[in-house]
Order: sequence, then structure tokens, then C-alpha cells
Amino acid sequence: MPNPPQVTRRALMIGAGAVAAWASSPARALMLGADASALPGSVETLIGQMTLEEKAGQLTLMAAAWAGSAANALNPVQGNTNYERQLAEVERGRIGGVFNGNGAEMARQMQTAAVKRSRLKVPLIFAADVIHGFRTVFPMPLAEAGSFDPELAERTARIAAIEATAAGIDWNFAPMVDVARDQRWGRGIEGAGEDVLLGRVMAAARVRGFQGRKGLAAQDAMAACAKHFAAYGAAEGGLDYNTVDISERTLREVYFPPFEAALDAEVATIMASFNELSGIPATANPWLLTDVLRREWSFGGLVVSDYTADLELIDHGFAADAREAAKLAFLAGVDMSMQSGFYIQHLPALVEAGEVPMARLDEAVRRVLALKVKLGLFDDPFRRIDPRREKTRVRTPAHLQVAREAGRRSIVLLKNDGDLLPLPRAGQKIALIGPFAQGQRELIGPWNVYGSDAEAVDLLTGVRELVADPAQVTAVDGCGIEAPIDGGIEQAVAAAAAADIVILAIGESQRMSGEAQSRVDIGIPPAQMALAEAVAATGKPMVVLLRHGRGLVLEGAVKEAPAILATWFLGSMSGPATADVLFGVEGPSARLPVSFPHATGQQPYHYAHKNTGRPHPVGPLQEYKARYREALNVALYPFGHGLTYGRIAYGSPEGAGGTLTPGGELRLAATITNSGTHDAVEVVQLYIQDQSASITRPVRELKAFQRVALKPGESRRVEFGLKRADLTFIGQDLKPTVEPGQFRFWIAPSAQAEGASGVFELS
Ligand code: BGC
Repeated sequence: MPNPPQVTRRALMIGAGAVAAWASSPARALMLGADASALPGSVETLIGQMTLEEKAGQLTLMAAAWAGSAANALNPVQGNTNYERQLAEVERGRIGGVFNGNGAEMARQMQTAAVKRSRLKVPLIFAADVIHGFRTVFPMPLAEAGSFDPELAERTARIAAIEATAAGIDWNFAPMVDVARDQRWGRGIEGAGEDVLLGRVMAAARVRGFQGRKGLAAQDAMAACAKHFAAYGAAEGGLDYNTVDISERTLREVYFPPFEAALDAEVATIMASFNELSGIPATANPWLLTDVLRREWSFGGLVVSDYTADLELIDHGFAADAREAAKLAFLAGVDMSMQSGFYIQHLPALVEAGEVPMARLDEAVRRVLALKVKLGLFDDPFRRIDPRREKTRVRTPAHLQVAREAGRRSIVLLKNDGDLLPLPRAGQKIALIGPFAQGQRELIGPWNVYGSDAEAVDLLTGVRELVADPAQVTAVDGCGIEAPIDGGIEQAVAAAAAADIVILAIGESQRMSGEAQSRVDIGIPPAQMALAEAVAATGKPMVVLLRHGRGLVLEGAVKEAPAILATWFLGSMSGPATADVLFGVEGPSARLPVSFPHATGQQPYHYAHKNTGRPHPVGPLQEYKARYREALNVALYPFGHGLTYGRIAYGSPEGAGGTLTPGGELRLAATITNSGTHDAVEVVQLYIQDQSASITRPVRELKAFQRVALKPGESRRVEFGLKRADLTFIGQDLKPTVEPGQFRFWIAPSAQAEGASGVFELS
């Protein structure tokens, strides 16, 4: 087990009565009598005392029924929404944990019920979706992945854990590590985008951040949960929850590696996904959950279902009824059932009937108890429940400062014709136009349970803080997100005409991405396009600020605007972070974690596609080649793209023509120069292509990247070391393999740029 249990001692606790009851309980006595290494033995004793119902109770996780709880606002309402009844279930030992509850007071009451009034006094575990911050909201994970900065992702995850654990949360349903290559799918916002390497790096960083580096028993550590296992992001047609039918090779090469990286980072839990996988739902898939996860990867932690995913086996047409659904999910390897209540309802009878072995039941219970032990809950069930800390540890100035820093480092400069940006702070009249220009709305993003737009800072406020005179800035909505406003366009055009420069803030609402929010058209809604065309027609220089949860299709006046910034959903400090970049307090340094295609019809588009037998060469459209009637199958703005305020040039490649020997390392390098007048941070990317192999290989694959700071006039030699293991792929026998031969490499500013390129041999 990755984190050895750490037993701490803490005399003063909230709910002293409850603690006294806990201290004299059998569970506590068992734990106290044991030193850390003997804890599993104590767990066995506890399991030996449990009834079948108490065991199934430990495997049952329910949404908090506390009135007005966050849980009720999030998922479809299902099951017990009566708090008194839920407390009674806890007292009967029929619930092992609750999720998406509301803070320390609720947790205190529920934990008291568990450790004072239940027979065996096993503490509850409190879980939640803390996807990108708690009360301090950080950029949505996809945006933050664009920083290409795992250290930043670890830091924001750490702060999220500090805040969430102060409110009683032990277990976080994050990170989402699904590779997402179809921009129609709304849940891309929660992950790291289309690339495998970036997905791996970010998965590991976020796990380390949530769990901390001091062991899970630390008061500010929460168990992480890598989700959704597996290939949830590969849904057909980009339709959320839809069928996934892909090869085992693609699973192993694309969708599994971020989970393996999470495991290497010692993630405590895994969530099974909603989707079916080539005919067998992931939630009831023994190959996935047992053969691969347990046997091949030796994962010893807990597997939880997604929300009612066992119940959904019936609609999948995989289980005839609830009893069969519970049995199939449980035997496949789902230890804990979220929200359906199927395990508590059916596992005892299934075990009694001999359809589920007692050993399997005990194994799952052991995993839940082991997690509770590791989290220190048997030592002090109230360790993370403290109403005072809940108030003082959140939204501190230091946390908000990190949110601002993370915000500006997540903004991607897509285009900057004529060096329109950065804007001068004084001397220009600015018209800030669009449905995202002002107001405490549409700021934090689609998947934040505990933060609020009301506590976030909007664009107008951020811009007014930075300009020399706030009166320089006029703000006009111009239209709604999906509907025109009477007279809105006229007002916007008048504001533009009276200004020296227009900042047009347009894009998607929070409800247009996230769970269940797939789109058939990934463009800007028509009402906003009409606004953009009218404002552009004034001829005023226009900066487009995109708010969005996915890679978008840009057209017309938006595409033609001289400057475009991708600003996603940036969280609590959205406005100030954006203003910092607009006025050059800090230059943009992020890169696209997903490609922006030319048209929705190209989806699923991703840079690491195969060549085909008829690749289309660069240039005018040709017949009988792999292209669309209307466009080449390339991106408007590819993965990895992003400009700086510097002027960056890539020198000639070093290492080209070299040979990589089996045990050796090939050094590839290029000199990067900033000949501009502004500081720049360039994300230098190393891509390779295996030119001929026993399995066809992608046209490019990212192998490494470095963030490199360059002063005006500065040159830096950027070097990468490439080893044989970096050239591995999944061979015909479905095992990792490396084959000698010729490879092309690019040290480049994006997946579509030439940069410094050459070939090398693997001997
Ligand atoms: C989502 C999960 C989430 C769960 C609990 C589900 O709908 O797919 O990612 O953790 O709800 O809120």
C-alpha cells in the first residue's frame, strides 16, 4: 500500500461526547491496540464483528441529504433526500460515507451519529467533487493544463485540499484524467485535453496536490480519485454517456496511461466510468477492473462506482434487474456503490444465496476500512471537521493570489496581428462589449460545488483596476449568451464607435460544457456572432476574449479579429487575471491543450492522428486525398499553439542525423531566440514520428516540453534527452515494444509548426 498508515494522537476534538463514545468503542479499541504495521490485523478483527448488513453498509456511499446540500443541486435527485432518515441509516450502519455535503456542521452531526450511535462505531468518510478549487476557485482543469506547468497544478490542488479538508472533506472525486479528443463532449473541461503525455503529467501532479506529500493521515490531505475508468472521453459522437467501442491497443496507448501515472503517484482510489466499453459497461467489466487494474497494475486501493452507474447497467441492457446489477458490478470489481443503494439492498442476500463469495465482500470492506485508517479517521474521526478552520482557511489572500497567477498562466494568446496586445494602460478609450464583459456571473465554470460567481471578480472590475483612469472604460452587454437584447447591438456599436479599442468578451455559458452538455455545433452562438459582426464593422481594433469550456470553431468577424485570447473559465480571479494579460502585467504563456478545428464536422480531431494511405500535402485541395470537400483536416489553432508578447524564433536543430543506441540517450536541441521587446515564456515542445513500424504510428507525438523564460534579445539553447523507452508503443501482441528504424523529430512551438526538425535512427 503506497501511504503507510500514520496514527496520530489528538486529545481535543470537536464533539467531545461523540469522541468519548468513540474512544470506548470496539473499533477504536482495536485500532489503539495496534501499532501502524499491525493495523490491517485490527481491520480483520473489525470485519469479523460485522453483520452482512454492516459490511454492505460500508460499501454504500450516498449523496448528503442535508437540506439545501450541494449534492441536491448537482446530480439527478435519487434516493434518500431526507436528512433525518439518512442519519438513522448511519446509526444502523447502513452507510459508509456521504458526498457533496455542506460543511463542518453537517459532518459533525453525521460523524457523531456514526461514532456514537452505531453499533460498531465505524467512522464515516466524507467525499466531494473538488474539481478545481474549493471556495477559492482555480481555472478549470483543462485551462490549467494549458499552463504546461505541473508544479502549478500541484500547487492549486494542494490549496484546494487545504480548503476542502478544513470543511470536513476526506476524499475528493478528482482528478478526472480522461483523455478527450472530441470537442463536442462537454466534460473535456475537467481533464487535461487531447494529449497523452500532458494527461499523464497533469494526472500525477493533481494526485500529489490533493493527497499531499506527508501521507493521507495529514489533516490537510484528502484521498484522490482518478476517474473515470476508462475511456469515458471516447464517447461516440462526443455525446456524454455514449457507447465507447475502441481497440485494446488504443486503450493501452491513449486512455490508460494517465491512470497509470495516477497510480504511480499513489492515488488512493479509482472511479469506474459510466460508459460501456466495446459491449461491456465499465462498471461491470471484470477485464478492466480486475484483470488490468488489480492483476496487471497491482492497484490495492478502492474502486468506487460513478453516480448510480450500477443502476444504469439495467438501462445499458446488461443487467435484468437491481439484484443482478449489484452482483455484476460487485463481482467485476466495484468495491463501493455510489448513490443507487443497490449494495445495501442486495449484497447481503447475494452472499447468503452463495452468489457472491464472502471473501469478495470482505475484500471490498477491507479496502474501505483501510482507506479510513490511512486517512486517520480511526484515530480521530473529527480530524478534518472544524467549523473554525472551515471559515479561516478558505479564500485567504495567499490562495486568491495563486488563483490570479494560475488564471493568467492558463490564458492562451491565439493571435496578435500587428502586436495589438498588450494594451497601453493609459490614453485609450476602451469599449468592453459582450455578455461576458461585466457582472458576477459565468466566471467560475461548470463544475464547482463550493465556490460561487458572487465571490469571483469579473472582467470589468479587473480592467478598471489596471487602467490609469476607470472612466476610460465603458461596458455594454450587447446581447445575451444565446439570445439578442432589444437595442443591444445598437448600444454596442455606439460604444465601439466612441472608443479607441474594443474588447469583445464572447463565448459559451457555464451550462454549455461540463457533464451532460455535449454540443452538435462548437461555434459561438448566433446572437453573439451577430454582435461580433456589427462591432467589427465599426472598424475599431478589436481584441476577442473567448470564454469557453472546449476547443471552439471560430468564424467570421471573430476569426478575423486581429487579437484573440482563449480565457476559458478562470475561477475566482477571472477578471484580474485576464486584465493582467491584456495589459502585459504578465505576458501570456499558456498553450492549447486541445486543438481548435476549422469546423465542427472535423470532430473528433486531434493532432496525433494517423497519416492514412492518402495524406493530403500542404497546399491547395487535391482530389482523392484524405481531406474534406471544404477544408484540409488540420487545425485552425493546433494543440500546443500559443503566442507570447515576445518574438520567438527557433534556430537549427542539433542532434539531427544522430543515432540512439539501445542503452543510450540522444541529445536533441535547438536555440530559441526572443527578438521582441517584451519578456516571454516559451513552451518548447519535442515531438517525434516513428516513420515505419509494425503498427502505424501517429503523425506526431509529444515526448517532452519545457517552459523557457526569455528576456528581450535573449537566446537559450533548449535541450531534450531522448531514451529508447520514450519510443515505446503497443505492438501487435498488445505489449509495449520499441522497433529500430528512422524517426523524425520536431522541437517546435506547436503540434503543427515546423520549428527545428530533423531525423534520427534508433539502432
Ligand atoms: C460524475 C462524477 C462525479 C459524481 C458525483 C457523476 O455524475 O460523473 O464525476 O464525481 O457525479 O458528483
